[in-house]
Amino acid sequence: MIKGTIDKIAGPLVVADGMNEARMYDLVYVSDYGLIGEIIELKGNKASIQVYEETGGLKPGDPVTATGEPLSVELGPGLASAIYDGIQRPLDEIRREAGDWITRGISIRGLDHEKVWEWSPVAEKGLKVEGGEILGEVPETKLITHRVMVPPEVSGEITWVIGAGSYNIDTVVAKVRDMDGETVELRMYHNWPVRKPRPIAEKRAPEEPLITGQRVIDAFFPLGKGGTACVPGPFGSGKTVIQHQLAKWADAEIVVYVGCGERGNEMTDVLQEFPELEDPKSGEPLILRTILVANTSNMPVAAREASVYTGITIGEYFRDMGYSVALMADSTSRWAEAMREMSGRLEEMPGEEGYPAYLGTRIAEFYERAGNVICRGGDRNGALTVVGAVSPAGGDLSDPVVQATLRVVKVFWSLQARLAYARHFPAIGWLDSYSLYTDNLKEYYDETLGENWVAMMKEAIALLQLEANLLEIARLVGAESLSPEDQLILYTARSLREDFLHQNAFHDVDTYASIVKQKIMMEVIMHTHGEMRKAIRGGVSPRELFDLPLKEEITRMRYIPEKDLASIEAIMEDVTSQINDVIESEQTA
Ligand SMILES: Nc1ncnc2c1ncn2[C@@H]1O[C@H](COP(=O)(O)OP(=O)(O)OP(=O)(O)O)[C@@H](O)[C@H]1O
Ligand SMILES: [Mg+2]
Repeated sequence: MIKGTIDKIAGPLVVADGMNEARMYDLVYVSDYGLIGEIIELKGNKASIQVYEETGGLKPGDPVTATGEPLSVELGPGLASAIYDGIQRPLDEIRREAGDWITRGISIRGLDHEKVWEWSPVAEKGLKVEGGEILGEVPETKLITHRVMVPPEVSGEITWVIGAGSYNIDTVVAKVRDMDGETVELRMYHNWPVRKPRPIAEKRAPEEPLITGQRVIDAFFPLGKGGTACVPGPFGSGKTVIQHQLAKWADAEIVVYVGCGERGNEMTDVLQEFPELEDPKSGEPLILRTILVANTSNMPVAAREASVYTGITIGEYFRDMGYSVALMADSTSRWAEAMREMSGRLEEMPGEEGYPAYLGTRIAEFYERAGNVICRGGDRNGALTVVGAVSPAGGDLSDPVVQATLRVVKVFWSLQARLAYARHFPAIGWLDSYSLYTDNLKEYYDETLGENWVAMMKEAIALLQLEANLLEIARLVGAESLSPEDQLILYTARSLREDFLHQNAFHDVDTYASIVKQKIMMEVIMHTHGEMRKAIRGGVSPRELFDLPLKEEITRMRYIPEKDLASIEAIMEDVTSQINDVIESEQTA
């Protein structure tokens, strides 16, 4: 323990004297309150400390203690369904101790050390192990089997494993003789410093899509399992709703949701909804596979950074077990603003718009912790997918945080104020957004959905691009002057937008569409397009086709439940017969 004293206080930043033996990123306790902070700059005997709790009432001369350890989280059974603040303190425990207001200096551990878990051993005596090897399993929630692993930095030979039974996480469950012949005792949990990525055996490009049930995403701009995406958008354009939708519906086994510096009521929505929502696969409450890290706008600014690192470390830990994990961070801009504030107080040389020069590096390092990986210590595949919301002022994409993010992420869902204003949700612009995973995922789609899926998506996007050009022409010369085939393109593009891309997050059925349903819906729209084109080429007037009742059936598709997909398929035949009737009546006329 290194003891110093407070020299000065500037908001969340405290400068302490007598700290020459401390190290960067050491965890410190500030004043007799024991406020938690982290050293972010060392100059001579002075340490600058970002404090994760309110610093009001602190005064020069108050004691500061550096622990010599970096800010770490506890990783073990009890994480799933936990709700934490930015430094992994369980919110309900804090409330129990302090009432509704988070008071300061409460030291509560991230995991419950008394709770007893049903342990079954997996590894056996004599096994040579490295970090990541699975020692045993614990049923953590109804949805998650927790795989207790050898901590990353331990390797050697197992000399003892405890038998099946009920133990708390402090119980020694295995012993390993390491390279130096020393015996290391392993428990059901270990600590890991949040700023340090957990090691993996190998990183690969994503091979499978993360199915989200959101049509515009899955069909047009898919995210790979282990990939990265960002959702920048102006105020009220639907960033939070998208993140919530992904947290609810994405086919990840574990979801980590980081609410970073956003309004408390948005987090309350999550806190209230998740325990009630059912997991579509198992029917169990979604919270059983979810970890929430809440650092709302009324909580201290410096803890935003900690919340992002805490979240991603927990995500990596479940990835190491071999799970597919999805992490949502809303909003990374609030984290960047916290960096800017700390950097300003440190009087660092500012970069663009006052953000620190290392903004880009920090953001890149964060997203680089995502990945589709081969885990260490066994032949397992795990994935950590990361989706960050970015909230640039006025939705301006030249914002430094957006730019730094776009340099690293592979998927860009561009939210448009214009679409949100027109109540077209999700307001993901189809002309500006992109996914760089489309090629990687093609093989998967060809195998699971048939080869026409990717081709159909390309055709649909092409129609929407044509629409943009045609609308421009129509604006100049009037829609009537467009050729019948061009009028059809406008008709189909509109149907793609309104009947496929538009999706109401708050409608019981429409909120989620399986990839199979998406395919059938798209087939119906593109089939209609093909049949109408044939009719038009045969001389039928477009107006007659556009007024057919089939349009209402197509509009209804979204609201047809998954169990009735056959009735969507039936629309296809109906489309053909209605169009054929028109062709025949033309011919007889
Ligand atoms: N998929 C959707 N379906 C229906 N309504 C939506 C959808 N997405 C967004 N909305 C509507 O838009 C509103 C604003 O969305 P949201 O809160 O997600 O915006 P935001 O970009 O997070 O805003 P802020 O910048 O304030 O955080 C929602 O309250 C909802 O009414
Ligand atoms: Mg929001």
